[in-house]
Amino acid sequence: MEVEDIRSILSNIRSRSIFGKIKRYEYMPYSIDNALNIVERIGKMRNSRFVIDEDNRFTYLNFVKWIHGDSSMLCLDPRTREVVSGRLNAGIYIAGNTGTGKSWCLEIMTDYCVIDNVRISISDKEQFLRWKNVRVDEICDTYVTTGDISEFKKKDILGIQDLGAEQPESMYMGNRMNVLQQILESRGDRSDKLTLITSNLPINHEILLNRYHDRVTSRLCEMCNYFEIKGKDRRKNI
Ligand SMILES: Nc1ncnc2c1ncn2[C@@H]1O[C@H](COP(=O)(O)OP(=O)(O)OP(=O)(O)O)[C@@H](O)[C@H]1O
Ligand SMILES: [Mg+2]
Repeated sequence: MEVEDIRSILSNIRSRSIFGKIKRYEYMPYSIDNALNIVERIGKMRNSRFVIDEDNRFTYLNFVKWIHGDSSMLCLDPRTREVVSGRLNAGIYIAGNTGTGKSWCLEIMTDYCVIDNVRISISDKEQFLRWKNVRVDEICDTYVTTGDISEFKKKDILGIQDLGAEQPESMYMGNRMNVLQQILESRGDRSDKLTLITSNLPINHEILLNRYHDRVTSRLCEMCNYFEIKGKDRRKNI
């Protein structure tokens, strides 16, 4: 077979999204400075002291690029913390100490998406890049009260706040379940789901490994672009 034939077959396969069911579109041209300015203004609407500074700039900058489908996006290697190329078809994982601004980052970027109607195609269904953020305790409460977590497995795009902060097991009618392990394992097995996560724990931390086991931790690295927000507890500045 000619090289050109192989190229055209591969490009055909790629365009039919057989390798991945998520298709991103470049939302360009856009000015990264304007984008960050808008993000900062959204943040200041919540708290006038909101800043993008050296502790969080890398995360905000590359989150904006991820939203715009900009392939120059970077993230961190979860093992070495080296800066590496990001993957537009994977989600986002933000780790950092308490109060460093992880949850705000996820929420502010959710608001940013509402201003800019970025499109994404998932399983051939074109939609706006939008997602709901839920805290892990709310997810576990849903299991405890209804026994049903299918909505969290099914959502095309889902934001999970505070991974690792939930009770290790939740009970419904005598059935004990490690709710987040189930949800992450299910979402991690699918190429048509995007998951955005914040946590106090680095993505390869032993506590995550003990709690969700290696099936989940290896999937997390596959599922998400990794970021860390540094710095002090910003709640102490209020
Ligand atoms: N970029 C920022 N600049 C200034 N203040 C900020 C910034 N981001 C967050 N804050 C302030 O810090 C507080 C804590 O932020 P946030 O809830 O996002 O922290 P967190 O990292 O999610 O903490 P935890 O690990 O405890 O969940 C917010 O209530 C807000 O007032
Ligand atoms: Mg938080």
